[in-house]
Amino acid sequence: MSFELPKLNYAYDALEPYIDARTMEIHHSKHHAAYTSKLNDAVKGTDLEGKTIEELLANVSAHSGAVRNNGGGFYNHNLYWEIMTPGGASQPEGDLLNAINGSFESVENFKDAFANAAATRFGSGWAWLVKQGDSLVVSSTPNQDNPLMDVADVKGTPILGIDVWEHAYYLKYQNKRPDYIEAFWKVINWDEVAKRFKG
Ligand SMILES: [Fe+2]
Repeated sequence: MSFELPKLNYAYDALEPYIDARTMEIHHSKHHAAYTSKLNDAVKGTDLEGKTIEELLANVSAHSGAVRNNGGGFYNHNLYWEIMTPGGASQPEGDLLNAINGSFESVENFKDAFANAAATRFGSGWAWLVKQGDSLVVSSTPNQDNPLMDVADVKGTPILGIDVWEHAYYLKYQNKRPDYIEAFWKVINWDEVAKRFKG
């Protein structure tokens, strides 16, 4: 059983004007496809074949750089496509809202912390909303690392993540990463984030 590139639940142009169709198409059909096939190449014929992506990431320090980079890339983009949607709720609700208020005092404080983590990640990487037990923290990771990896500074379950590699925004936003981060709030699938929070 090899890893498969997931189909998106919406069309490449569905997140316009916030994320453009050309970026979505290249990001999914080229970048994510490459992480997926390179991950399969990296585990093929090794004792890692057949392990779940979560199992690979939990012990990633024991594996090759190819497994770390492409395994992270495979997992992170799976999450990224799912936590976005056209026409989603504009704010978190219910238990997730309570947890955000409990950990950050307000949604605005959480948004500021998340946007700051995304904007200040030097070079390529991700910013995350991470579940740690009943509480939530914001973190960021370089390259394709994520909070499920044993090498992460901040460990836990990622329930929201933003890709801040230039390939995620450069065609539309060029060097203006903060504008992409601001637009990202318009396309979040808060129902999916809440589902991941419940576990
Ligand atoms: Fe990406």
